Amino acid sequence: LTKPVIVGSVLGADYARLGDEVADLTDAGVGRIQWDVMDRRFVPNMTFGPDVVAACRDYSSLPFEAHLMVQDPDPVISEFVAAGCETVIVHAETCAHLHRTLSTIRDLDAKAGVAVNPSTPLDFVRHVLDRIDQIVIMTVNPGFGGQKYIAAMEDKVAEMRALVDSSGSPVKIEVDGGISTTTARNAWYAGAELLVAGSAVLSHPHGKRTAVAELHAAMT
Ligand code: DX5
Repeated sequence: LTKPVIVGSVLGADYARLGDEVADLTDAGVGRIQWDVMDRRFVPNMTFGPDVVAACRDYSSLPFEAHLMVQDPDPVISEFVAAGCETVIVHAETCAHLHRTLSTIRDLDAKAGVAVNPSTPLDFVRHVLDRIDQIVIMTVNPGFGGQKYIAAMEDKVAEMRALVDSSGSPVKIEVDGGISTTTARNAWYAGAELLVAGSAVLSHPHGKRTAVAELHAAMT
């Protein structure tokens, strides 16, 4: 089994020092930075727009991925690509024309991701596997960091693993929500290749580097 990539979420970082927090996450050894974009419509929280992402672009050489937890992602996709996001993730639940939205992301030379909430079946992505580079299986109900990992989603991860392997498509499976040293291994064993970690890294008492090292060490 290839070791999973730890994706550092900045949700819950010290927003008064956001650039430095992005640099610290980079130095701590995460493989990507994830921007949890929230509009207080699709989810009950509001975070940052493309200008904030752009302001932090030069604080890290890592790929940025925008996780658009927004009611209407189409109009803002190009802005997050322009801000420096290599990957744009939309929620299946917010796209009436998901096939077209994913094509729009790819036409902008960005990688396309689809996220599915805990209650959303994988049938929503079955017919667009050729349009996506990544699927994000939410293991919490989106909106906030620090929530409890929903272990029942491991069946969905395993189902997606089987779907990807049988289709021969290069789709990467990401798990997002409640990742810690105790849950990371189970998500990895279920088939996840990318693990998003927010609070487990940002709130670790011994700092980000120790937190990331502990997550990597848990992958045995
Ligand atoms: C929820 C967010 C969080 C974030 C990670 O909407 O998507 O899952 O990325 O936060 P933690 O790791 O604290 O659950």
